[in-house]
Amino acid sequence: MGAEHAIDLEQSLVVTPLEPTLGAEISGVDLSRPLTAAQRDQVHALLLKHKVIFFRDQHITSAQQVAFARQFGELYVHPTTEKQDATLPEAHLIQAEDARLSYGDARKGRWHTDTSWMLKPTFGAVLRAVSLPAVGGDTLWADSGLVYRGLPAEVRERIDNAFVTHNFKSSLDRVGYPYPILAHPLVRTHPETGEDALFINFSMSPQIIGWSPEDSQALVALLLREYSNPEYHVRFKWTEGAIAFWDNRALLHYPVYNYGDFPRVMERVLIADDDIPHRVRR
Ligand code: SIN
Repeated sequence: MGAEHAIDLEQSLVVTPLEPTLGAEISGVDLSRPLTAAQRDQVHALLLKHKVIFFRDQHITSAQQVAFARQFGELYVHPTTEKQDATLPEAHLIQAEDARLSYGDARKGRWHTDTSWMLKPTFGAVLRAVSLPAVGGDTLWADSGLVYRGLPAEVRERIDNAFVTHNFKSSLDRVGYPYPILAHPLVRTHPETGEDALFINFSMSPQIIGWSPEDSQALVALLLREYSNPEYHVRFKWTEGAIAFWDNRALLHYPVYNYGDFPRVMERVLIADDDIPHRVRR
């Protein structure tokens, strides 16, 4: 009986791809309730396939958002972000000020992946719209595997063994959270799909280890131009009750800041990778 029920629910999931390699809208599932094992596996498979998946009209609470994310792994409490509910530290706010201040004027710093400053960055993020401008405030995601494969062969050859820094030190210092600046391989193989993809965070002053400052800057500028290519993007227009769930290992994202003083608010929950320190255990 339980299995039949799970199969019915699985079949009710409707998947609408948004772009050839990334982005899909999923309907036919109620995120306010625990997923069946079959639904959970299907959502996970859809995440791996489409890299970022979207659900609309899910008017869930922060606690339900946290419960949804926890079905995909242990959650990570971000050390520098503001929380709206101290009893739910896994859910943190992404506010308009973050878009205005964190990235400053430097549009170049907006393409990023979450918590790449850690040895084991969080693999997934679940973002919920809390307060949206009437128009604007979209989010873009860029397919890091496509960007990598689109590079000229000689560039791929130069970077295949390169390491790039992820520097979040000043923000961590502000909250008294000691953590070294580290470097990750610039090209990584996705542990679940096996896809090779770039892994760089333009908001964290990327520098290529062992390269001259000029060569490093030139490469970072080239990669940023590649990431700006619309052919690699999916762009999501938020609506009340919309949720995005993405795989930080497979893409970068870019919050569009074009809504002036409007106090746009989102809530984000991060899902830890295996062996990550500072887990939340319950
Ligand atoms: C984020 O950068 O994780 C949030 C994106 C957004 O606010 O659109």
